[in-house]
Parts: sequence; C-alpha cells; structure tokens
Amino acid sequence: MVLSANDKTNVKNVFTKISGHAEDYGAEALERMFTTYPPTKTYFPHFDLHHGSAQIKAHGKKVVGALIEAVNHIDDMAGALSKLSDLHAQKLRVDPVNFKLLGQCFLVVVAIHHPSVLTPEVHASLDKFLCAVGNVLTAKYR
Ligand code: HEM
Repeated sequence: MVLSANDKTNVKNVFTKISGHAEDYGAEALERMFTTYPPTKTYFPHFDLHHGSAQIKAHGKKVVGALIEAVNHIDDMAGALSKLSDLHAQKLRVDPVNFKLLGQCFLVVVAIHHPSVLTPEVHASLDKFLCAVGNVLTAKYR
C-alpha cells in the first residue's frame, strides 16, 4: 500500500482536524465496530463494552493516539508502530480482517463529524493510510 505525496498531505490535513478529539472519535469507532461486527468483541472479554464505558474511552484514545503517531512518522510507519505490531501480531493475534472493520468504522466517524473534509479523494487517501497501518500491525505473524 503505497501512499503518494498527495495522499500523505490529505491524511495529515484530516488529522489536524481530529487530533483534539482522540478519545471521543476513538471510542465512537470502537463502539461502532463492536456493535456492527460483534465477533470483534471476542478480543475484549475483559472490557466493559457498554455505551459510555470508561475502558472504551481510554482504549479509543490509545488507538487514535497510535494513528497520530503513524501520521507523524508517515514515511516510517513500520518503525513507529513496531511495538504495536509485536503486540497485535505476536501476542494478541488479531485476525487481519478485523483491521479493515475498525478502519471502516473510523472512516464513518470522520465522515459524520467532518463531512466537508471527507471528499472522495480524501476518503481514498485515508482508506489507503488505514490499510497501511493495518498491514504494519499484522506483518509479524509467525
Ligand atoms: C491494544 C492500537 C486494531 C485489539 C492496542 C493498543 C493500541 C492499539 C495503541 C494499546 C497498546 C498498549 O497498551 O501498549 C490499534 C490500532 C489499530 C488496532 C492503531 C488499527 C487501526 C485492533 C483491532 C483489534 C485490536 C482490529 C481487534 C478487533 C486490541 C486488543 C488490545 C489492543 C485486544 C489490548 C487491550 C487491553 O487489554 O488493554 N491497540 N489497534 N486492535 N488492541 Fe489494538
């Protein structure tokens, strides 16, 4: 998944709009994932998954924080996300299909809160970026 210079600019612009909402947007994306794709809940048996859960909020903040980290190191995402890649691929062993599901939910959250930002071109760039993050986080299965 190669991001063009234009994709990188589009992704950075999106994240300048959302970086102040990491907890809210992250929690909303997770809640949508758990509700729309219930099998994803099996990875979180130790979480309170009800609406408004403090655990979902805290986790959402971490997830979007990692996305911000990836944007800040967009030319070396594998390096920036190396520890998270170890965690997801080697310890948690999250099925790669789930990354696409969370990515779709995150796109929906951006679309709802920033409809004018998500032009078709920006949508495509953000989708590419989220796929690239998913590829990094699932690259170390063995
Ligand atoms: C933990 C990011 C996708 C399941 C984490 C953590 C971060 C993170 C930052 C916390 C690591 C720590 O505390 O050191 C991401 C990103 C994703 C992603 C950026 C994709 C955009 C997924 C998906 C699943 C998943 C799709 C499963 C459906 C988990 C689980 C934990 C975790 C179970 C541990 C939670 C806990 O016990 O606190 N992830 N994640 N992740 N992630 Fe992900």
